[in-house]
Amino acid sequence: PSLKKVFKKDFVIGTALSIYQIDDKDPQATSLIAQQFNTATPENIMKAQIIHPKWDVYNFEPADKLITYCKNLNLEVNAHALIWHSQLPNFVRQIKDADSVKTFFENHITTVAKRYDGKVKTWDVVNEALNEDGTMRRSIFLNKLGENFVTEAFRLAQTASPKSELYYNDYNNEQPAKRAGCIALIKKIQAAGVKIDGVGIQGHWHLGKIPLKQIEESILAYSALGIKVAFTELDIEVLKRDFQGADVNQRMQNSPSLNPYANGLPDSLQTQLAMDYEALFNLFLKHKDKISRVTFWGVHDGQSWLNGWPVRGRTNYPLLFDRNYQPKPAFYSVISTKGK
Ligand code: G3I
Repeated sequence: PSLKKVFKKDFVIGTALSIYQIDDKDPQATSLIAQQFNTATPENIMKAQIIHPKWDVYNFEPADKLITYCKNLNLEVNAHALIWHSQLPNFVRQIKDADSVKTFFENHITTVAKRYDGKVKTWDVVNEALNEDGTMRRSIFLNKLGENFVTEAFRLAQTASPKSELYYNDYNNEQPAKRAGCIALIKKIQAAGVKIDGVGIQGHWHLGKIPLKQIEESILAYSALGIKVAFTELDIEVLKRDFQGADVNQRMQNSPSLNPYANGLPDSLQTQLAMDYEALFNLFLKHKDKISRVTFWGVHDGQSWLNGWPVRGRTNYPLLFDRNYQPKPAFYSVISTKGK
Protein backbone atom coordinates (compact mmCIF):
# COMPACT_ATOMS: atom_id res chain seq x y z
CA PRO A 1 0.00 0.00 0.00
CA SER A 2 0.90 3.63 -0.50
CA LEU A 3 0.28 6.28 2.17
CA LYS A 4 -0.30 9.06 -0.33
CA LYS A 5 -2.88 7.00 -2.20
CA VAL A 6 -4.67 5.68 0.85
CA PHE A 7 -5.07 9.19 2.35
CA LYS A 8 -5.55 10.94 -1.00
CA LYS A 9 -8.96 12.38 -0.14
CA ASP A 10 -7.98 13.30 3.43
CA PHE A 11 -4.65 15.15 3.61
CA VAL A 12 -1.27 15.14 1.90
CA ILE A 13 1.43 12.92 3.40
CA GLY A 14 4.95 14.26 3.71
CA THR A 15 8.50 13.39 4.64
CA ALA A 16 11.54 15.38 5.64
CA LEU A 17 14.34 15.19 3.07
CA SER A 18 18.02 15.15 3.96
CA ILE A 19 20.87 16.45 1.85
CA TYR A 20 22.13 13.04 0.76
CA GLN A 21 18.67 12.01 -0.41
CA ILE A 22 18.38 15.09 -2.58
CA ASP A 23 21.85 14.35 -3.96
CA ASP A 24 20.44 10.97 -5.03
CA LYS A 25 22.86 9.09 -2.80
CA ASP A 26 20.05 7.03 -1.32
CA PRO A 27 18.19 5.51 -4.30
CA GLN A 28 16.22 3.09 -2.11
CA ALA A 29 14.87 6.03 -0.14
CA THR A 30 14.05 7.83 -3.36
CA SER A 31 11.89 4.98 -4.64
CA LEU A 32 10.14 4.78 -1.28
CA ILE A 33 9.55 8.54 -1.38
CA ALA A 34 8.09 8.32 -4.88
CA GLN A 35 5.78 5.54 -3.83
CA GLN A 36 4.61 6.83 -0.44
CA PHE A 37 4.66 10.63 -0.23
CA ASN A 38 3.20 13.60 -2.10
CA THR A 39 4.85 16.44 -0.19
CA ALA A 40 8.27 17.07 1.37
CA THR A 41 10.11 19.36 3.79
CA PRO A 42 13.85 20.06 3.60
CA GLU A 43 15.15 18.90 6.99
CA ASN A 44 18.01 21.43 7.00
CA ILE A 45 18.95 23.01 3.66
CA MET A 46 16.57 25.96 3.68
CA LYS A 47 17.59 27.04 7.18
CA ALA A 48 19.48 30.34 7.39
CA GLN A 49 22.75 28.71 8.44
CA ILE A 50 22.95 26.85 5.14
CA ILE A 51 21.10 29.07 2.68
CA HIS A 52 22.53 32.41 3.89
CA PRO A 53 26.03 31.83 5.29
CA LYS A 54 27.39 35.41 5.06
CA TRP A 55 25.96 38.94 4.91
CA ASP A 56 25.81 39.09 1.12
CA VAL A 57 26.30 35.44 0.31
CA TYR A 58 23.44 33.07 -0.37
CA ASN A 59 23.94 29.36 -1.00
CA PHE A 60 20.94 28.45 -3.11
CA GLU A 61 22.39 25.38 -4.78
CA PRO A 62 21.13 22.70 -2.35
CA ALA A 63 17.66 24.28 -2.13
CA ASP A 64 17.47 24.58 -5.92
CA LYS A 65 18.35 20.90 -6.18
CA LEU A 66 15.61 20.11 -3.71
CA ILE A 67 13.06 21.94 -5.86
CA THR A 68 14.12 19.92 -8.90
CA TYR A 69 14.17 16.64 -6.94
CA CYS A 70 10.63 17.31 -5.67
CA LYS A 71 9.38 18.33 -9.09
CA ASN A 72 10.68 15.09 -10.60
CA LEU A 73 8.91 13.04 -7.94
CA ASN A 74 5.68 15.07 -7.98
CA LEU A 75 6.17 16.29 -4.44
CA GLU A 76 4.89 19.60 -3.14
CA VAL A 77 7.47 21.54 -1.11
CA ASN A 78 6.91 22.73 2.43
CA ALA A 79 9.74 25.19 2.90
CA HIS A 80 11.33 25.32 6.37
CA ALA A 81 12.07 27.81 7.94
CA LEU A 82 12.55 31.55 7.39
CA ILE A 83 12.97 32.82 10.95
CA TRP A 84 14.29 30.52 13.67
CA HIS A 85 16.55 31.33 16.62
CA SER A 86 18.48 28.09 16.09
CA GLN A 87 20.83 27.13 13.25
CA LEU A 88 21.62 30.77 12.54
CA PRO A 89 24.76 31.64 10.56
CA ASN A 90 27.71 32.89 12.63
CA PHE A 91 27.54 36.41 11.24
CA VAL A 92 24.06 36.84 12.69
CA ARG A 93 25.12 35.57 16.11
CA GLN A 94 27.85 38.22 16.13
CA ILE A 95 25.55 41.18 15.40
CA LYS A 96 25.25 43.53 18.35
CA ASP A 97 23.02 46.39 17.17
CA ALA A 98 19.29 46.25 16.53
CA ASP A 99 19.48 47.99 13.15
CA SER A 100 21.72 45.29 11.70
CA VAL A 101 19.44 42.53 13.02
CA LYS A 102 16.56 44.31 11.31
CA THR A 103 18.55 44.53 8.07
CA PHE A 104 19.35 40.81 8.19
CA PHE A 105 15.73 39.97 9.04
CA GLU A 106 14.28 41.95 6.13
CA ASN A 107 16.90 40.94 3.57
CA HIS A 108 16.77 37.28 4.50
CA ILE A 109 13.00 36.88 4.38
CA THR A 110 12.61 38.94 1.23
CA THR A 111 15.43 37.32 -0.75
CA VAL A 112 14.75 33.70 0.19
CA ALA A 113 10.94 33.80 0.09
CA LYS A 114 10.92 35.65 -3.25
CA ARG A 115 13.29 33.22 -4.93
CA TYR A 116 11.02 30.26 -4.22
CA ASP A 117 7.67 31.98 -4.70
CA GLY A 118 5.50 29.80 -6.90
CA LYS A 119 7.85 26.86 -6.34
CA VAL A 120 6.87 26.01 -2.79
CA LYS A 121 3.41 25.28 -1.47
CA THR A 122 4.01 26.52 2.08
CA TRP A 123 6.56 28.40 4.17
CA ASP A 124 7.21 27.94 7.87
CA VAL A 125 7.63 31.68 8.33
CA VAL A 126 8.50 31.61 12.02
CA ASN A 127 9.62 28.50 13.90
CA GLU A 128 9.57 27.93 17.67
CA ALA A 129 9.09 31.48 18.98
CA LEU A 130 7.34 30.36 22.19
CA ASN A 131 8.30 29.03 25.60
CA GLU A 132 6.43 26.16 27.22
CA ASP A 133 4.41 28.58 29.37
CA GLY A 134 3.19 30.43 26.30
CA THR A 135 5.41 33.50 26.70
CA MET A 136 7.75 34.56 23.91
CA ARG A 137 11.10 32.76 23.86
CA ARG A 138 14.17 34.92 24.41
CA SER A 139 16.08 35.11 21.14
CA ILE A 140 18.08 37.56 19.10
CA PHE A 141 14.86 38.49 17.30
CA LEU A 142 12.81 39.12 20.43
CA ASN A 143 15.67 40.98 22.11
CA LYS A 144 16.50 43.28 19.21
CA LEU A 145 13.21 43.63 17.33
CA GLY A 146 10.60 43.21 20.05
CA GLU A 147 7.49 41.00 20.21
CA ASN A 148 6.18 42.29 16.93
CA PHE A 149 8.88 40.45 14.98
CA VAL A 150 6.53 37.53 14.34
CA THR A 151 3.87 39.69 12.70
CA GLU A 152 6.56 41.55 10.75
CA ALA A 153 8.02 38.28 9.46
CA PHE A 154 4.62 37.27 8.10
CA ARG A 155 4.11 40.72 6.56
CA LEU A 156 7.45 40.48 4.71
CA ALA A 157 6.80 36.88 3.64
CA GLN A 158 3.37 37.76 2.29
CA THR A 159 4.88 40.45 0.08
CA ALA A 160 7.84 38.36 -1.03
CA SER A 161 5.93 35.13 -1.65
CA PRO A 162 2.29 35.88 -2.39
CA LYS A 163 1.76 32.43 -3.92
CA SER A 164 2.71 30.37 -0.87
CA GLU A 165 0.71 29.53 2.23
CA LEU A 166 2.23 30.92 5.40
CA TYR A 167 2.52 28.85 8.60
CA TYR A 168 3.62 29.38 12.18
CA ASN A 169 5.38 26.19 13.38
CA ASP A 170 6.22 24.96 16.88
CA TYR A 171 6.56 21.88 19.12
CA ASN A 172 4.41 21.11 22.18
CA ASN A 173 1.96 23.75 20.98
CA GLU A 174 -0.78 21.20 21.54
CA GLN A 175 -0.16 21.62 25.30
CA PRO A 176 -2.63 24.07 26.92
CA ALA A 177 -0.29 26.88 28.05
CA LYS A 178 1.80 26.92 24.90
CA ARG A 179 -1.34 26.58 22.80
CA ALA A 180 -2.80 29.67 24.49
CA GLY A 181 0.38 31.62 23.66
CA CYS A 182 0.25 30.35 20.10
CA ILE A 183 -3.38 31.39 19.71
CA ALA A 184 -2.55 34.87 21.03
CA LEU A 185 0.31 35.12 18.53
CA ILE A 186 -1.92 34.11 15.62
CA LYS A 187 -4.67 36.52 16.67
CA LYS A 188 -2.12 39.33 16.77
CA ILE A 189 -1.03 38.58 13.21
CA GLN A 190 -4.64 38.48 12.06
CA ALA A 191 -5.52 41.70 13.93
CA ALA A 192 -2.71 43.47 12.07
CA GLY A 193 -4.35 42.50 8.78
CA VAL A 194 -1.46 40.23 7.89
CA LYS A 195 -1.97 36.84 6.23
CA ILE A 196 -1.46 33.58 8.12
CA ASP A 197 -2.81 30.39 6.54
CA GLY A 198 -1.98 27.76 9.08
CA VAL A 199 -0.31 26.46 12.19
CA GLY A 200 2.15 23.61 12.32
CA ILE A 201 2.12 21.24 15.27
CA GLN A 202 5.48 19.49 14.92
CA GLY A 203 4.49 16.26 16.65
CA HIS A 204 7.73 15.01 18.22
CA TRP A 205 6.02 12.68 20.67
CA HIS A 206 7.03 9.79 22.94
CA LEU A 207 6.08 6.13 22.86
CA GLY A 208 3.02 5.31 24.96
CA LYS A 209 2.48 8.97 25.76
CA ILE A 210 0.70 10.53 22.82
CA PRO A 211 -1.30 13.53 24.15
CA LEU A 212 -4.42 12.66 22.13
CA LYS A 213 -6.80 14.81 24.16
CA GLN A 214 -4.63 17.91 23.89
CA ILE A 215 -4.06 17.28 20.19
CA GLU A 216 -7.81 17.09 19.56
CA GLU A 217 -8.47 20.25 21.60
CA SER A 218 -5.75 22.00 19.60
CA ILE A 219 -7.10 20.96 16.22
CA LEU A 220 -10.45 22.46 17.20
CA ALA A 221 -9.04 25.61 18.82
CA TYR A 222 -6.69 26.46 15.96
CA SER A 223 -9.19 25.80 13.22
CA ALA A 224 -11.68 28.03 15.06
CA LEU A 225 -9.27 30.86 14.13
CA GLY A 226 -9.99 30.17 10.47
CA ILE A 227 -6.61 28.60 9.72
CA LYS A 228 -5.40 25.15 8.66
CA VAL A 229 -3.69 22.69 10.98
CA ALA A 230 -0.68 20.68 9.75
CA PHE A 231 1.32 18.03 11.58
CA THR A 232 4.73 19.00 10.32
CA GLU A 233 7.47 16.85 11.92
CA LEU A 234 5.83 13.68 13.16
CA ASP A 235 7.89 11.00 14.89
CA ILE A 236 7.54 8.90 18.04
CA GLU A 237 10.64 8.58 20.18
CA VAL A 238 11.04 5.02 21.33
CA LEU A 239 14.07 5.11 23.53
CA LYS A 240 13.32 7.03 26.65
CA ARG A 241 13.10 4.48 29.40
CA ASP A 242 14.00 0.82 29.31
CA PHE A 243 11.79 -1.96 30.69
CA GLN A 244 12.98 -1.28 34.24
CA GLY A 245 12.04 2.37 33.87
CA ALA A 246 15.62 3.60 33.84
CA ASP A 247 16.36 6.70 31.76
CA VAL A 248 18.21 5.39 28.74
CA ASN A 249 19.60 8.76 27.72
CA GLN A 250 21.14 9.35 31.09
CA ARG A 251 22.64 5.88 31.23
CA MET A 252 24.11 6.20 27.75
CA GLN A 253 25.65 9.53 28.65
CA ASN A 254 27.80 7.67 31.19
CA SER A 255 28.37 4.62 29.08
CA PRO A 256 27.57 4.88 25.36
CA SER A 257 27.80 1.11 24.87
CA LEU A 258 24.70 0.59 27.01
CA ASN A 259 22.29 1.06 24.15
CA PRO A 260 19.53 -1.41 24.99
CA TYR A 261 17.91 -1.54 21.57
CA ALA A 262 21.06 -1.41 19.46
CA ASN A 263 20.10 -4.56 17.57
CA GLY A 264 16.38 -4.05 17.21
CA LEU A 265 13.18 -3.29 18.98
CA PRO A 266 11.39 -5.84 21.21
CA ASP A 267 8.01 -6.97 19.85
CA SER A 268 6.12 -5.30 22.69
CA LEU A 269 7.52 -1.88 21.77
CA GLN A 270 6.95 -2.51 18.08
CA THR A 271 3.30 -3.19 18.93
CA GLN A 272 3.04 -0.12 21.15
CA LEU A 273 4.42 2.03 18.32
CA ALA A 274 1.83 0.62 15.94
CA MET A 275 -0.96 1.33 18.45
CA ASP A 276 0.25 4.89 19.02
CA TYR A 277 0.36 5.66 15.31
CA GLU A 278 -3.04 4.04 14.78
CA ALA A 279 -4.63 6.18 17.51
CA LEU A 280 -3.07 9.30 16.01
CA PHE A 281 -4.28 8.61 12.50
CA ASN A 282 -7.77 7.76 13.74
CA LEU A 283 -7.81 11.21 15.34
CA PHE A 284 -6.45 12.87 12.19
CA LEU A 285 -9.15 11.19 10.10
CA LYS A 286 -11.87 12.28 12.51
CA HIS A 287 -10.81 15.90 11.83
CA LYS A 288 -9.61 15.53 8.27
CA ASP A 289 -11.58 18.59 7.13
CA LYS A 290 -9.37 20.72 9.42
CA ILE A 291 -6.01 19.07 8.67
CA SER A 292 -4.03 20.03 5.59
CA ARG A 293 -1.01 17.76 5.96
CA VAL A 294 0.75 15.08 7.96
CA THR A 295 4.55 15.03 7.51
CA PHE A 296 6.92 12.46 9.03
CA TRP A 297 10.33 13.78 10.12
CA GLY A 298 12.27 11.42 7.86
CA VAL A 299 11.72 8.46 5.54
CA HIS A 300 13.14 5.60 7.61
CA ASP A 301 14.50 4.91 11.10
CA GLY A 302 18.12 4.93 9.96
CA GLN A 303 18.08 8.59 9.00
CA SER A 304 16.10 10.00 11.93
CA TRP A 305 17.62 12.89 13.92
CA LEU A 306 16.62 10.93 17.04
CA ASN A 307 19.48 8.47 16.54
CA GLY A 308 22.00 11.06 17.59
CA TRP A 309 20.10 13.24 20.01
CA PRO A 310 20.30 13.95 22.88
CA VAL A 311 22.85 11.17 23.27
CA ARG A 312 25.36 10.42 20.56
CA GLY A 313 25.26 6.90 19.18
CA ARG A 314 21.86 5.88 20.42
CA THR A 315 19.59 3.90 18.13
CA ASN A 316 16.00 4.91 17.61
CA TYR A 317 12.88 3.61 15.87
CA PRO A 318 10.49 6.53 15.47
CA LEU A 319 9.18 6.16 11.89
CA LEU A 320 7.06 3.82 9.76
CA PHE A 321 9.92 2.27 7.76
CA ASP A 322 12.91 0.41 9.21
CA ARG A 323 16.59 0.70 8.39
CA ASN A 324 16.18 -1.73 5.51
CA TYR A 325 13.44 0.43 3.98
CA GLN A 326 10.83 -2.14 4.98
CA PRO A 327 7.39 -1.18 6.35
CA LYS A 328 7.02 -1.80 10.09
CA PRO A 329 3.85 -2.95 11.88
CA ALA A 330 3.20 0.77 12.52
CA PHE A 331 2.96 1.33 8.76
CA TYR A 332 0.23 -1.28 8.43
CA SER A 333 -1.64 0.05 11.45
CA VAL A 334 -1.68 3.52 9.89
CA ILE A 335 -2.98 2.07 6.62
CA SER A 336 -5.60 0.06 8.54
CA THR A 337 -7.23 3.23 9.89
CA LYS A 338 -8.78 3.65 6.44
CA GLY A 339 -9.77 0.06 6.04
CA LYS A 340 -12.05 -0.42 8.98
O1 G3I B 1 26.03 18.67 7.69
C1 G3I B 1 26.90 18.80 8.81
C2 G3I B 1 28.16 17.99 8.62
O2 G3I B 1 28.87 18.53 7.54
C3 G3I B 1 28.98 18.06 9.90
O3 G3I B 1 30.11 17.26 9.78
C4 G3I B 1 28.15 17.59 11.08
C5 G3I B 1 28.91 17.69 12.40
O4 G3I B 1 28.04 17.84 13.49
O5 G3I B 1 27.01 18.38 11.18
C6 G3I B 1 26.16 18.32 10.04
O6 G3I B 1 25.07 19.16 10.27
C7 G3I B 1 24.08 18.68 11.16
C8 G3I B 1 22.75 18.70 10.44
O7 G3I B 1 21.72 18.34 11.31
C9 G3I B 1 22.74 17.73 9.23
O8 G3I B 1 22.87 16.41 9.67
C10 G3I B 1 24.02 19.58 12.37
O9 G3I B 1 25.21 19.46 13.14
C11 G3I B 1 22.84 19.22 13.24
O10 G3I B 1 22.70 20.19 14.28
C12 G3I B 1 21.57 19.24 12.40
O11 G3I B 1 20.50 18.82 13.21
C13 G3I B 1 19.21 19.18 12.76
C14 G3I B 1 18.49 19.99 13.82
O12 G3I B 1 17.18 20.29 13.39
C15 G3I B 1 19.21 21.29 14.12
O13 G3I B 1 18.67 21.92 15.19
C16 G3I B 1 18.44 17.92 12.45
O14 G3I B 1 19.03 17.25 11.34
C17 G3I B 1 16.99 18.26 12.12
O15 G3I B 1 16.24 17.08 12.04
C18 G3I B 1 16.39 19.14 13.22
O16 G3I B 1 15.08 19.50 12.84
C19 G3I B 1 14.35 20.28 13.78
C20 G3I B 1 13.45 21.20 12.97
O17 G3I B 1 14.19 21.96 12.06
C21 G3I B 1 12.65 22.11 13.90
N1 G3I B 1 11.92 21.33 14.89
C22 G3I B 1 12.72 20.37 15.66
C23 G3I B 1 13.47 19.44 14.71
C24 G3I B 1 14.22 18.38 15.49
O18 G3I B 1 15.22 18.93 16.29
